[in-house]
Amino acid sequence: MLTRKIFIAGNWKMNPGTSEQAKALAKAVREGVGSASEVEVALGAPAIFLSAVSESLNDSPIGLAGQNMHWAKDGAYTGETSASMLLDSGCTHVILGHSERRHGMGETDEQVNRKLKSALEAGLYPIVCIGETLEERESDRTESVVAGQLTGSLAGLSPEEMNKVVLAYEPVWAIGTGRTATPGQAQDVHAFIRRTLAARFGEKTALIVKIQYGGSVKPDNAEELLGCPDIDGALVGGASLKASDFLGIIEAGRKVSVAR
Ligand code: 13P
Repeated sequence: MLTRKIFIAGNWKMNPGTSEQAKALAKAVREGVGSASEVEVALGAPAIFLSAVSESLNDSPIGLAGQNMHWAKDGAYTGETSASMLLDSGCTHVILGHSERRHGMGETDEQVNRKLKSALEAGLYPIVCIGETLEERESDRTESVVAGQLTGSLAGLSPEEMNKVVLAYEPVWAIGTGRTATPGQAQDVHAFIRRTLAARFGEKTALIVKIQYGGSVKPDNAEELLGCPDIDGALVGGASLKASDFLGIIEAGRKVSVAR
């Protein structure tokens, strides 16, 4: 049986306030993680701090993620960052289609798809976020919304390309609210996502692709969530800003990995 390695990524969003704080946070995570390899770890830092954080992570197994990018290689796109700029700043990953960009900035599945193809072409590992709003869940549209996001965001990808993509299921109502999906609710959607991937890309790819859960993941709920068969990691917002909390979530991932 194929075992997917647990992948814990932090999404710092528009935090912390200074590059010194960003470096200190990265250093504390790096020291806590050491050379442990049971769990894959990455940090998603603000674009302006990526180079500084990359230096702090030098020679560690921790990946570095941009939180967004433009699909174009270069050109007249004021304020934007390209895939090659992310690579030059030390990135291994890029978070795409986060709900704060979809809902706050009007980012569409079509734009996420263009970014995804550009990221893959450049050699970045994309983390593509999907998830329903509370209203969509309460009107029983979770599966149709998630299926639509998968169809649009992943359009035109080959199974080989899809094997390099990580998905993050982040129910919008659970982000930054302290209201986590129950393990049962999360597992149901993750299993649905995997079935959808199997139908679209084949069984083999569906077994390879990691699906992270995101939305109020904390050290005290991580083990239960990560223990679900189709939950392969976490995309952590608030709790990734405190090294001890983030390390607690990584430790939960390690325990689950050992038991898997
Ligand atoms: P919180 O962990 O703060 O709920 O944020 C989740 C998230 O949006 C990660 O991308």
